[in-house]
Amino acid sequence: MSVFVVRTVAALRAAVAGWKREGLRVAVVPTMGALHEGHLSLVRIALERADRVVVTLFVNPTQFNNTDDLAAYPRTEPEDLAKLQPTGAHLLYAPDVAEMYPAGFSTKVSVGTVSEGLCGVFRPGHFDGVATVVVKLFLQVGADIACFGEKDFQQLNVVRRLASDFDVPVEIVGCPTVREPDGLALSSRNVRLTQEGRRIAPALAKVLFETAKRLASGAPVAQSLDEARAAVVAAGYSSVEYLELRGDDALEPLAGLEKPARLLAAAWLDGIRLIDNVRVQDPELTL
Ligand code: PAF
Repeated sequence: MSVFVVRTVAALRAAVAGWKREGLRVAVVPTMGALHEGHLSLVRIALERADRVVVTLFVNPTQFNNTDDLAAYPRTEPEDLAKLQPTGAHLLYAPDVAEMYPAGFSTKVSVGTVSEGLCGVFRPGHFDGVATVVVKLFLQVGADIACFGEKDFQQLNVVRRLASDFDVPVEIVGCPTVREPDGLALSSRNVRLTQEGRRIAPALAKVLFETAKRLASGAPVAQSLDEARAAVVAAGYSSVEYLELRGDDALEPLAGLEKPARLLAAAWLDGIRLIDNVRVQDPELTL
C-alpha cells in the first residue's frame, strides 16, 4: 500500500479517527524531511510498536534562530515520499506554514530547565519553537506513541518533559542514533559537508566514545573534557560550542560519574554545526 499524503489538520484527524474506531494503535514520527536512514529507523521502530504510522514533514520556521539556516534547510518532499514508500508507513502529514501557524497565531510553549544550557545557549528560542510545534503535532495527530531520535538528545528530553507536564496521553520512545560505518551520526546536515569535511567529521563521535571510555575507567572529568575539546579541534573542526558531561535523565551538569551520565557535544565544521552524544556507561563503546 502506498503512503497517503494529507496536508490539513482536518484530513489528518479524519484518517486517524477512522483507525481509532477500528481499535488500531497509532504512532507518529515527527520530521522536518530530508529523510535519511536515521529517520527510516524511527519509522521501522514505530511500525514494530503500532498498527498505523503517521510521519510528519514540516520545516518548522519557529525553531530556526537563523534565517539563512531556515532558507538553506533542504526541502525534498518527493524524494522523502519515495524513501517512505517501501517502509510501510501509512500516512505522510505535510502541512504548509499557514496550516500550522494560521494568521493570528500567538501561543508559545516554553519548557524550562531541560531547554537551558547545551544547544539552548547557542540557539536562543530553538527549543520553544520545537516544543510549540511538537505540542501542536501531538494534538493534531492524537497518536498513542511518538518516536524521536536520541541523536537530538536534549530535544528528546524537552519532548518528554512537555508530554509529562501537559499530560499528553502519548508514549515517547527514544530511538538509538544511527551511525555511518565510520561512526558519524546520521544528520540531514551531513550532505552539506565538503569531501574534506566528511573525512574529518567522524572525529566528533570518535572523541566522544574515547572520552566516555576514559571517564568510565576513572579518568578525571574536567581534564578529560578539556582534552576532548582540544582533540575535536586538533582533528580539524573549527570550534567546539560545548562538550559536556550531563545526567542521563535530567541533563543536569555532572562533576563526576555518581549516576548514569551522557557526553553531549556541538561543534562546527565547514560552517556546519554538528551535534552528537554518547551514554558514558554503555558497555559497547567501540566504533
Ligand atoms: O527533530 C526534528 O526534526 C524537529 O526538531 C521536530 C521534532 C520534527 C520538530 O520540528
